[in-house]
Amino acid sequence: MYILAPSILAADFGNLRKEIETVSEAGAQYIHIDVMDGMFVPSISFGMPVIQSVRSCTDKVFDVHMMVEEPGRYAADLKAAGADLLCVHQEACRHLDRTINQIKELGMKVGVALNPATPVETLSCVLDQVDMILLMSVNPGFGGQKFIPYTVDKIKKLRAMLNERGLQTDIQVDGGVGLGNVKELMEAGANVFVAGSAVYKQDAAANVKAFLKIFEEA
Ligand code: DX5
Ligand code: ZN
Repeated sequence: MYILAPSILAADFGNLRKEIETVSEAGAQYIHIDVMDGMFVPSISFGMPVIQSVRSCTDKVFDVHMMVEEPGRYAADLKAAGADLLCVHQEACRHLDRTINQIKELGMKVGVALNPATPVETLSCVLDQVDMILLMSVNPGFGGQKFIPYTVDKIKKLRAMLNERGLQTDIQVDGGVGLGNVKELMEAGANVFVAGSAVYKQDAAANVKAFLKIFEEA
């Protein structure tokens, strides 16, 4: 199944509830929430109080992308704020296995994210423990960047690794994803697509529907 996860980083924060309702009502399955700490990535975005205050405006999956050093420190608070799926960076966790287990024990789904320059083979030992792998297709920290083309080969390699083990784990792609390249990413083996600027520029509802149409036609 193909899933669209609009990134609210590109939304108008002054109207955040409305912006989430719009993409939710248009049919997006996930709401992608980018938390940045100013350490793992240069920028700071928002944290638990913001997530908690928008939790009541939709029942869609809150897909929280932690661009934060040692994100395990916040797992329980994120669960309390309403996170359903918690994605942590391999590069930010000194004890990745422990962090994965901690998230599962709290009753959330777990994803592991990789920066563009981190090879997919690094997840070899934990592949069967995670619900989703997030391949960053830009260097994390900012919306509106250009898609890094070598990500396509990483998607293909990761899907082959998963198939070899009989796993149907979700592969999410984040950064520079739009209506013009999503098909190629689907063909490469990804099935969850984050889109920030491609959704929130101009008519967000129409953009969501255009993505969903491409998914339906596949
Ligand atoms: C970047 C964030 C992304 C970002 C994507 O560090 O993880 O989720 O919002 O934005 P676009 O789709 O505009 O590249
Ligand atoms: Zn993200």
